[in-house]
Amino acid sequence: MSVATLEVAGKDNYYVEEAIKVLRTNIQFSGNDVKVIMFTSCGENEGKTTVALHVAKSFSELGKKVLFIDADMRKSMVAARNARTRMTKGLSEVLTKQENISDCLVKIENSTLMMLLAGTVPPNPVELLNGKSFDSLIAATRSNFDYVIIDTPPLGIIVDAAVVANKCDGCVLVIGDKRNKIKREKEVIAMIRKTDCKLLGAVRNYSRSSTDRGYYKKYKK
Ligand SMILES: Nc1ncnc2c1ncn2[C@@H]1O[C@H](COP(=O)(O)OP(=O)(O)OP(=O)(O)O)[C@@H](O)[C@H]1O
Ligand SMILES: [Mg+2]
Repeated sequence: MSVATLEVAGKDNYYVEEAIKVLRTNIQFSGNDVKVIMFTSCGENEGKTTVALHVAKSFSELGKKVLFIDADMRKSMVAARNARTRMTKGLSEVLTKQENISDCLVKIENSTLMMLLAGTVPPNPVELLNGKSFDSLIAATRSNFDYVIIDTPPLGIIVDAAVVANKCDGCVLVIGDKRNKIKREKEVIAMIRKTDCKLLGAVRNYSRSSTDRGYYKKYKK
């Protein structure tokens, strides 16, 4: 199994860590049955991946067994930015049955956090996410992990996240500092509500990526 270190903006920043603990606690209070949780947003670069990685890391710091799945198979940056590893295989190989999940997992050093990276860009991400293989993957991970955190592409741009939502217990909407039109946010919320997934709430992520001085604030639904 491959081992990697985790790099994520805001790591070791006291204010970020505190805000993430509040978010983690709010997720825990949303119910014992909420263990497969996805993160999405209306648009690009709002901080989905950053917030999802922080939450995954934060649960692992409680000693929970956590799996982070990178379901942004179209243009994932996780392997390049956050978890540098020699592992090139990931979700797309597992869903197309070219690989077993156990051969694709990456372990984050000194932690109980594991990752399934996006893998090779497939020609048909929505079909793969809609297929039976993804259902079986989620079912298998449910019994092997305490929490499964799924990072997805922006729901306001492509439909992949709505497909993933149907298999998740909860969804967190990340809202970045570039203001979306409120109408667009409402449309995305309506899309999530049409799925079988509970909308847990929204995270306001103000990001200043050039300096890594970011902070998070959790709003109630
Ligand atoms: N709170 C933050 N503080 C500092 N930098 C941040 C913060 N949130 C995000 N960033 C930075 O902003 C950039 C975009 O963040 P991220 O990749 O998490 O967004 P995303 O919504 O997942 O983007 P995409 O739509 O491409 O998947 C990254 O360089 C990240 O490091
Ligand atoms: Mg992302």
